[in-house]
Amino acid sequence: MPEYQTHPYDVLIVGAGGAGLRAAIEAASSGLKVGVVTKSLLGKAHTVMAEGGVAAALANVDERDNWRVHFSDTMRGGQYLNNWRMAELHAREAPDRVRELEAWGALFDRTSDGRILQRNFGGHRYPRLAHVGDRTGLEMIRTLQDHGIHTGIEVHMECTVLTLLTDSGRIAGAFGFDRERGHFLLWPAKAVVLATGGIGRAYQITSNSWEYTGDGHALAYRAGAELLDMEFVQFHPTGMVWPPSVRGLLVTEGVRGEGGVLRNSEGRRFMFDDIPELYKTQTAASEDEGWRYTQGDKEARRPPELLTRDHVARCINREVKAGRGSPHGGVFLDIAWIKTHLPNAAEHIRRKLPSMYHQFKQLADIDITREPMEVGPTTHYMMGGVRVDGDSQMSTVPGLFAAGEVAAGLHGANRLGGNSLSDLLVFGKRAGQFAADFARAHSAPAVDRAQAGAAAQAALEPFDRGAAGENPFQIQHELQERMQALVGIVRTESEMHQALELLDAFSARAARAGVPGHRQYNNGWHTALDLPQLLTVSEAITRAALLRQESRGAQFREDFPGKDPEWGKHNIVVRRGDAGEMLVEPRPVTPMPAELTQIIEEMK
Ligand code: FUM
Repeated sequence: MPEYQTHPYDVLIVGAGGAGLRAAIEAASSGLKVGVVTKSLLGKAHTVMAEGGVAAALANVDERDNWRVHFSDTMRGGQYLNNWRMAELHAREAPDRVRELEAWGALFDRTSDGRILQRNFGGHRYPRLAHVGDRTGLEMIRTLQDHGIHTGIEVHMECTVLTLLTDSGRIAGAFGFDRERGHFLLWPAKAVVLATGGIGRAYQITSNSWEYTGDGHALAYRAGAELLDMEFVQFHPTGMVWPPSVRGLLVTEGVRGEGGVLRNSEGRRFMFDDIPELYKTQTAASEDEGWRYTQGDKEARRPPELLTRDHVARCINREVKAGRGSPHGGVFLDIAWIKTHLPNAAEHIRRKLPSMYHQFKQLADIDITREPMEVGPTTHYMMGGVRVDGDSQMSTVPGLFAAGEVAAGLHGANRLGGNSLSDLLVFGKRAGQFAADFARAHSAPAVDRAQAGAAAQAALEPFDRGAAGENPFQIQHELQERMQALVGIVRTESEMHQALELLDAFSARAARAGVPGHRQYNNGWHTALDLPQLLTVSEAITRAALLRQESRGAQFREDFPGKDPEWGKHNIVVRRGDAGEMLVEPRPVTPMPAELTQIIEEMK
């Protein structure tokens, strides 16, 4: 067994984005010893990529909004596969979590009478997104970090968790290494909260940065937790497509919330061509009506650019495939056109969308106050993840909790923009609170050093093979390229069978991965250790997508293009048998209580 240091905690949080920080604040506020392990630097998280706002029915801009409408919008957006209890708690508690954040120092944009300003976003019936220009996630992280740092939490930055430890089925802590020096670390804990974010790096085109390799999903799965609805991967409709070095970088939905429209190479607003049945009565019939909605006319209906992300991404895909795309394989997103209605449009755009203005000016030499942007879908968010109890966020492994993107349920088959930031506040707090309760109610588990020893030995194997082994970067690159091509926005049975065969081959190659050099900041080694997580989540996505023989939300099957009521159920991914075979089992949705069903009926 190689040497390692030990840092015991009552509650260990893995991940320091919004959900991890909010969970840490809650657990530490009850006086427990809380440790936070983060793969990257504190504050560097995908939370900042939720730019356009945090969804909460504050009703500051439209007094008709309330938690019931938010609940109903979230369920409709998720095609009714959501965990309805989570959707209810989220809609009820989001306003308090946003006000709390404001009390902790978050500086939101303001209405003319001084309240938190809210903007339009896809699938939300009323302007609901509290925002800070187009830097909302960044402001939230800043606030949580400033607040959290005073609560006595201990932070282990630039550390990767290799395995979760268990004691007779209960969680016992985690084992990993420090990326800078390559030292091993053991974190015994009575409760663990996973807040590791998503899986975007399983795909070639993504808004996610290098950290998002599905670590929490894979760690939980190997520890015996169930994964839920892994087929639902969100492709955000608008990522940059040019220049190639920034392909996939997010272009906030806030651009469309502020009146930006999508056009094809013929200059036509193609989103008017295909309005889904579920949204027919709520969608504008003309450009003029859509603009009036953007300007706050309460009689007008939403422009079709504010339909849900799954639908908008597919429409863009269709235009590009039909040869009506932009020069670099996207479509045009035009915010400059609002100058035909607003005399001070350029200043308005720079004030409401400062990051987008600079992003395009600096990276693509485009002035968005004058010219359209080129955009296309980018892998952005994972709806599938660790199956948790709606109230406590505990997984099927006692003492193991999950919050934020790594946890599944709230968003069903498709997430509404802005619901990720409110998700991480509401369920980060709940996970922290219930993990602390669990830690108080249980004695320290036994730590099995053999589990840690096996993980350390496996982690060092790539050095034994050295430069003669398979190149981990090459395997990762091919895996991302194949997942994009075969299990992307449009899926078919034959392509997904091909993907499964390839994933087998990639696994065999990953087992032969080799790296030269030493353990100090060795990026090749880090990539070799990310591969098992990427392969696990890729297999889970593909198997679940194959089994679901229908199209719903983010899953579009070209061979089963319709929604099938028979498939109004979940896919559960479990690990079975000594060989650890991955199984996917359909499971019925828990019936909704009458009072919630009634809300949905009323909102229709
Ligand atoms: O488009 C955006 O600003 C992203 C928001 C989100 O994913 O919630």
